[in-house]
Amino acid sequence: MSENKLTITAICGSLREGSFNRRVLKAMEELAPKHWEIYHADLSMIPLFNSDIESQGDPQSVAEFKENIRQADGVLIVTPEYNMGIPGVLKNALDWASRPSKSSVLIEKPFAIAGATPGGGGDNSVTSPGEADIASYECLHDAGSEGSHRQRSRQTE
Ligand SMILES: Cc1cc2nc3c(=O)[nH]c(=O)nc-3n(C[C@H](O)[C@H](O)[C@H](O)COP(=O)(O)O)c2cc1C
Repeated sequence: MSENKLTITAICGSLREGSFNRRVLKAMEELAPKHWEIYHADLSMIPLFNSDIESQGDPQSVAEFKENIRQADGVLIVTPEYNMGIPGVLKNALDWASRPSKSSVLIEKPFAIAGATPGGGGDNSVTSPGEADIASYECLHDAGSEGSHRQRSRQTE
């Protein structure tokens, strides 16, 4: 019996080419059930949020990012923590996606978050307070709270 396709927007919070978090995301993709279709968002193309730019219409990279999330069944974020919070590039992308606030593509969107770091702290703030950062978009319905997708990963060199 074939299972229904599940579309996931995958977001890596690191732009670094050799990113551990990107490697974790790729490993997750390899392990994901075959009926998952994963789209990798490219945060490097998303400009810094500026409501002057927004008022002229979303740049193409932002429009594509938002449309992909809109069509996805869920969002999977794998990110380092930077100074005990989520990296600026990730926050910037989510800020774009949070607009317009009343019809944001993030509203009620299930999400899961994981983080990898070579440090001893284990990305704690990404997977706990950082999760709250993301949930504070008032939008993202935490799939983990339903006991399903919350992940915590650590990778060392
Ligand atoms: C600006 C900056 C801040 C960081 N802050 C933290 C931190 O708060 N906690 C932590 O565990 N690691 C921190 N790190 C280390 C990162 O977890 C580590 O560099 C990690 O490899 C980055 O992820 P990536 O490999 O996916 O690029 C920080 C790194 C940078 C560059």
